[in-house]
Amino acid sequence: MQNLILSIESSCDDSSIALTAINTYNLIFHQKISQEIQHSAFGGVVPELASRLHAESLPIILEKTKPYLNALKAIAVTNEPGLNVTLLEGVMMAKTLSYALNLPLIGVNHLKGHLYSLFLESEAVFPLGALLVSGGHTMLLEAENFKKINIRAQSLDDSFGESFDKVAKMLSLGYPGGPIVESYAKKGVARFELPVPLYNKKQLAFSFSGLKNAVRLEIEANISLNDDFRADLCASFQKSAIAHLLQKCKIFFEENAKNPKGWRHFGVVGGASANLVLRESLQVMCNFYDVQLLLAPLEFCSDNAAMIGRVAVESYKHEEFSRIESLQTRPRINVF
Ligand code: KG4
Ligand code: ZN
Repeated sequence: MQNLILSIESSCDDSSIALTAINTYNLIFHQKISQEIQHSAFGGVVPELASRLHAESLPIILEKTKPYLNALKAIAVTNEPGLNVTLLEGVMMAKTLSYALNLPLIGVNHLKGHLYSLFLESEAVFPLGALLVSGGHTMLLEAENFKKINIRAQSLDDSFGESFDKVAKMLSLGYPGGPIVESYAKKGVARFELPVPLYNKKQLAFSFSGLKNAVRLEIEANISLNDDFRADLCASFQKSAIAHLLQKCKIFFEENAKNPKGWRHFGVVGGASANLVLRESLQVMCNFYDVQLLLAPLEFCSDNAAMIGRVAVESYKHEEFSRIESLQTRPRINVF
């Protein structure tokens, strides 16, 4: 049997475990149990509930990896960034396995995981430009290699995905908001004039709180929230939110085009990279700048342990291991 890494993901509301072959990157096993139904009643993730559900789900998935125990060479786990109480569930399981099976432990950065979702079963491509859009982050990244990943832009407040979740909550559409708002937007007409955040600023940064408030004001000014109104407001919101991403991406692409050593590949990753309007708009931008657009398979855009296992293979090859005593959960990061 091939040498494998077992990886665990529990940074938010998905419990997931994967087995990745070290030599070939083949994904041998992957399962995820999502908690969307349990959190939807609250319109967002409730950390303590999420933690309790991880404690139930992770052992159920782990049980299925038993036939592969003898092939394991390392245990990997997401330890940053994420919700502290949910990260802890995965980290405790990983430490226990590492200790009991006497295998090296690898702590993985969740955002690096999203980046490597582009290369799940293949060699990574560098240099690489990327837009990361998830529930917790909105970032422009430049990666020179596995170890050197620069954050070029971040959000000043809410993230792109989170703003979809909040709009869905305000319109009582359920959780997670991204796919629901996208499907409502498809049926609607963008007739509301909502602001495109930081439109006149050259600054490489994102902001979604002002746009979210503009949506709130439209809702407050309306008497009944019927489905036509919801669809039109979703269409208007999505149009502004994506226009904002594209405006900042354009500055990023312009800058890169002037650099002879710039990237020729651009990836869009994170749960919100499943948005088809965003994918299509970025494809147009990439064509214009003669850059190749890289996308993760739709099923691996949202949180999963396969992407964590893929990063862990690189860590294993670079002999980057963590000590059981010192691996800690870290809710936030500012550098990779
Ligand atoms: O990467 P992810 O699974 O979890 C985090 O690491 O945060 O991203 C989840 C986020 C949620 O906010 C969800 O609403 C958003 O991604 N999302 C979308 C779409 N699908 C998921 N946002 C916009 N459009 C979508 N189609
Ligand atoms: Zn994520």
